[in-house]
Amino acid sequence: MGERVNPIADLRYAATVPPVPAAATRASGALHDRRGRPLRDLRISVTDRCNFRCTYCMPKELFGASYAFLPQASLLSFEEITRTARLFVAHGVHKLRLTGGEPLLRKNVEQLIAQLAALRTPEGKPLDITLTTNGSLLARKAQALKDSGLQRVTVSLDALDDAVFRRMNDVDFPVAQVLEGIHVAQRVGLAPIKINMVVKKGTNDHEIVPLARHVREHFGPGVVLRFIEYMDVGASNGWRMDEVLPSAEVVARLDRAFGLQPLAAHTLGETAKRHAYRDGGGEIGVISSVTQAFCGDCNRARLSTEGKLFLCLFANQGHDLRALLRGQRDGRPYTDEDIAAAIGLVWAQREDRYSELRTQQTPAAQPGQPRVEMHYIGG
Ligand code: GTP
Ligand code: 5AD
Ligand code: SF4
Ligand code: SF4
Repeated sequence: MGERVNPIADLRYAATVPPVPAAATRASGALHDRRGRPLRDLRISVTDRCNFRCTYCMPKELFGASYAFLPQASLLSFEEITRTARLFVAHGVHKLRLTGGEPLLRKNVEQLIAQLAALRTPEGKPLDITLTTNGSLLARKAQALKDSGLQRVTVSLDALDDAVFRRMNDVDFPVAQVLEGIHVAQRVGLAPIKINMVVKKGTNDHEIVPLARHVREHFGPGVVLRFIEYMDVGASNGWRMDEVLPSAEVVARLDRAFGLQPLAAHTLGETAKRHAYRDGGGEIGVISSVTQAFCGDCNRARLSTEGKLFLCLFANQGHDLRALLRGQRDGRPYTDEDIAAAIGLVWAQREDRYSELRTQQTPAAQPGQPRVEMHYIGG
């Protein structure tokens, strides 16, 4: 097999430097894109590294010892991330999610959380701050995360059965340690806790009902289990439509096992459709980005570890905010107003709605312009 060529990590994904308008105007907090969608949710990737090698995200053959992850100097500092987040908040963002790779691998991530927790919306309200983790370090870190101001966590967990779980994470990581992490997170008061299970037909779909039963019996209604349709994100995972189990089937199986009834959405733009257990045992969610795309009110922006802004999970082109954070005009660093105005222009031109346009085939990655990978941009 030929060796995979790794482009310099920083240049792996194309990005343009957003134009900065000559006269910056104040962010109005009510930005809309070309399809009328507001900007509400900023998902910040704090590392492209992960200690798991989930077969659908970072297959070992592609992400081995010779893979070039981003070098330390490329990463946004905590100050740069917080400054950027503040500008997004001025534009209407009120939810921040830290992702990775595995965000708990970023050194001193609690310090970043403390800085983000101090931000306020233009109305003076605290932000909804959460984090997506594979749970491997959660038992050790949950208390420090809580103390730093984190409100809640979402834990990825694809199986209850230890053998299936070890096979899926592909680093032989035991499921018991993730379950323990969830228990500790619950004990220290991170709430509500969500568990995300990516369902791959033929790989772990037999785990749907056992995992739901376990969550009901051992964690109770405070922990919300959500089932995610396996997506054709990135270009590494060899995605095939016949490995997608439609959410309708997930709901049917859980309804047969426990009895479900649909719940109304909390807010516009939500990823998950919610269903309650009829016996009052809490709720589950299904995220159907393949069979029922939810681009229509997608209000999510994504910031990569090295400061590129992506307007869609399936984008192949970023907007280099780091160039503005570290750059100058006429010998002076860009001001907050300059950068906020540039972000505003980028969002105003957004048209992305990949999942709505997806065909049934695996789209081929364009040479030289690979689509972003999930370990790079987070979920
Ligand atoms: P909550 O605020 O906790 O409800 O979070 P969320 O559902 O907005 O985000 P989360 O990170 O838990 O999303 C779960 C999964 O949904 C991700 O891992 C992705 O697989 C998928 N997902 C989230 N956002 C998008 C999106 O904008 N587009 C698509 N296609 N999938 C998404
Ligand atoms: N399809 C759906 N979800 C995915 N994730 C990673 N890759 C995929 C995919 N191909 C999810 C993980 C985790 C989050 C970071 O993204 O399970 O919950
Ligand atoms: Fe698995 Fe998440 Fe790590 Fe990807 S980033 S390999 S989905 S744990
Ligand atoms: Fe948003 Fe793109 Fe996902 Fe559609 S595919 S919901 S536009 S991130």
